[in-house]
Amino acid sequence: MPKKVAMIGTGYVGLVTGVCFASKGHDVTCVDVIPEKVEQINEGKTPIFEPGLEELLLNARKEGRLEATLDGASAIKKAELIFIAVPTPSKEDGSIDLSFIEEVSHTIGKTIRDVTDKKTVVVKSTVIPGTTEKVVGRIIEEESGKKRGIGFGLAMNPEFLKEGKAVEDFLDPDRIVIGAIDSESFNEVKALYEWAEAPILETSPTTAELIKYAANSFLAMKISFINEIANYCELLGVDVKDVAQGIGLDERISPKFLRAGAGFGGSCFPKDVAALYSHSKQLGRELILLRSTLEVNKQQPLRTVELLREEVGDLSGKTIAILGLAFKPDTDDMREAASIPIIEQLIKEGARVKATDPIAIPNAKKILSHPNINYYDKINDVLKEADALILVTEWDEYRQLSPSDLKSLMKGDVVIDGRRIWNPELFHKHGLRYRGIGLGKKKN
Ligand SMILES: NC(=O)c1ccc[n+]([C@@H]2O[C@H](COP(=O)([O-])OP(=O)(O)OC[C@H]3O[C@@H](n4cnc5c(N)ncnc54)[C@H](O)[C@@H]3O)[C@@H](O)[C@H]2O)c1
Repeated sequence: MPKKVAMIGTGYVGLVTGVCFASKGHDVTCVDVIPEKVEQINEGKTPIFEPGLEELLLNARKEGRLEATLDGASAIKKAELIFIAVPTPSKEDGSIDLSFIEEVSHTIGKTIRDVTDKKTVVVKSTVIPGTTEKVVGRIIEEESGKKRGIGFGLAMNPEFLKEGKAVEDFLDPDRIVIGAIDSESFNEVKALYEWAEAPILETSPTTAELIKYAANSFLAMKISFINEIANYCELLGVDVKDVAQGIGLDERISPKFLRAGAGFGGSCFPKDVAALYSHSKQLGRELILLRSTLEVNKQQPLRTVELLREEVGDLSGKTIAILGLAFKPDTDDMREAASIPIIEQLIKEGARVKATDPIAIPNAKKILSHPNINYYDKINDVLKEADALILVTEWDEYRQLSPSDLKSLMKGDVVIDGRRIWNPELFHKHGLRYRGIGLGKKKN
């Protein structure tokens, strides 16, 4: 049975969720506060780049199953289910900023005060355990004068999609988690996912909230774990890649998220781990593993600078080429990117930085601006005059670089592989001083 859905917040998660629900026959109204986003969506264009999304959006528009609006109240009034997919950023101290969630909850509460039908409110944003019931439910009750379970339904339905694979992840999920206050709310949300073959987990809202945080924290912890092992491998003269392969073949461990490097970044892992850690401290039960995960990740980008110093010595006056600025390949997202602390440290030590990235330069310029930082579109321009290079983001085009080209273009001969994408032997053969995270120094 097609459902009428209002999707409040049409960013990464809201747009992908809204478009995918529409592609499965539901009627979706996307709500946002940014007029250009709303216009673009109504013209059948996606404000974000995500493979497969534009085709689905265009199709949904043609079939009249998706529209976008700035008018939240009218979208809420006509919907059976109201999804909240607004941002939940970190505050300065790492704790979660729920102001967007609160604002939307007030709007929903005021709007449903005078409606007669029973609507179900679903939190899709990543929120700290307890938020759906204690914040969203409470505000809606106060504003609407209605009781949850009687006047409106309430659920939490976390999202596990990955940027760059969002549509695929949404349409073919590993699991769907629905944390509802009662079976009626659960069944309402479940009806949206009739098409899905994945297991559906019925939980409480708080459990659903924690499942999302625990999943991200576990993956982040896996990365910090292999990075710690990598730093130790360097002392032992063994290669972390061999260790990762050796443990990853154990099906209880799996090889995923076991690539050592300059640390994790992006819009989710750092903020979610910090928010859960901060919440655990507030509750007086500090999650020590999360603190360590964050500490390791804070130090890890600087490991590339340490390797550089071991080869070059004093960095003052040296020219360092940086390959890759975005937090991961295939995105221009610079949030919490490892390139930021690396470049800041190089500048602090008196180096000159020449940086490149296939698409993230405009965003990088907003964060990293200094007379000693210069940006170039072409790799060759970055390598010219460079005493050393640090590979920070593993873009495919950097994988293809030949050591002989690097050798002929660079002034110096030091290569720091911050993501372990190159073959050390090949680089050594061409007379380059190659150092990689998790690989002991080559003995001469
Ligand atoms: N991006 C991811 O990969 C991902 C994955 C899973 C979960 N999440 C979580 O989902 C939530 C949303 O993340 P996102 O990446 O989609 O954020 P986003 O910044 O891409 O999008 C949020 C959208 O909400 C809009 N908005 C803000 N206030 C609004 C309001 N009052 N009314 C209507 N719209 C409003 C913004 O204009 C923006 O378009 C966060 O809690 C995030 O942690 C994100």
